[in-house]
Amino acid sequence: MDEEKYIKFLIPLVFISIVFIGITVSLQEGENQNKTHLAGHEVILPDPQKEGSLSLEETLMSRRSVRDFAENKVTLEEVSQLLWAAQGITDENRKRTAPSAGATYPLEVYIAVKNVEGMEEGVYLYHPQRHILTKVSSGDVSAKLKEAALGQTFIEEAPFNIIISAIYKRTTDTYGERGERYVHMEAGHVSQNIYLQGEALGLKIVAVGAFNDKQVASVLNIPRNEEPLYIMPVGK
Ligand SMILES: Cc1cc2nc3c(=O)[nH]c(=O)nc-3n(C[C@H](O)[C@H](O)[C@H](O)COP(=O)(O)O)c2cc1C
Repeated sequence: MDEEKYIKFLIPLVFISIVFIGITVSLQEGENQNKTHLAGHEVILPDPQKEGSLSLEETLMSRRSVRDFAENKVTLEEVSQLLWAAQGITDENRKRTAPSAGATYPLEVYIAVKNVEGMEEGVYLYHPQRHILTKVSSGDVSAKLKEAALGQTFIEEAPFNIIISAIYKRTTDTYGERGERYVHMEAGHVSQNIYLQGEALGLKIVAVGAFNDKQVASVLNIPRNEEPLYIMPVGK
């Protein structure tokens, strides 16, 4: 009888302990994921230029994918300008340089820095509203990023790589499955903005779609609900 009572007491206790441990672990994981983007220090980007010397037509004429980079550093002004072209805020309603289905803005833009003036090596996340970067992790990840992208050597050689990732839910919550298509279309818009801005600045860029998604996400330490869509090595 005593033994029966003991077992009756023990079973709910074990069950409650397992649930408690599970909740604690998942809360900690969630907190760590947020921390990744909050803990790193901020990089205040220079204001982007709103005028340039090359016409849109000239830029369209000369844009090409380039995979050969000199060893020259890229400047913080150039990084700032490319990020603004990708996702910069352009009006009082917080709309951006690239269109977005229902203004749901599913894309996040990261840079993996190797050789940028005034910046430490590391992975950074762009925050369009404040036009700043926050550090996600330290150190040069370009060799690992190259490995994750089928060994495409120019990824490692570039002074920095832009990575466009997607949080599909932001758009599929409104548009259901069709939202996935919209997210991909939007990545195309953002990528083209980067290409054209790069051309106008005299930078060399190529859009890379051939890579292992999980490996790239792991190298960049991006949250689990995000998927990388594009890598864009940038250089001179
Ligand atoms: C969706 C997409 C994926 C691409 N993936 C790669 C890639 O993985 N590696 C690469 O070297 N170029 C890649 N490119 C660049 C194309 O090879 C390039 O755009 C094409 O050769 C046309 O040249 P252009 O961009 O100079 O006009 C990709 C382009 C697009 C649009």
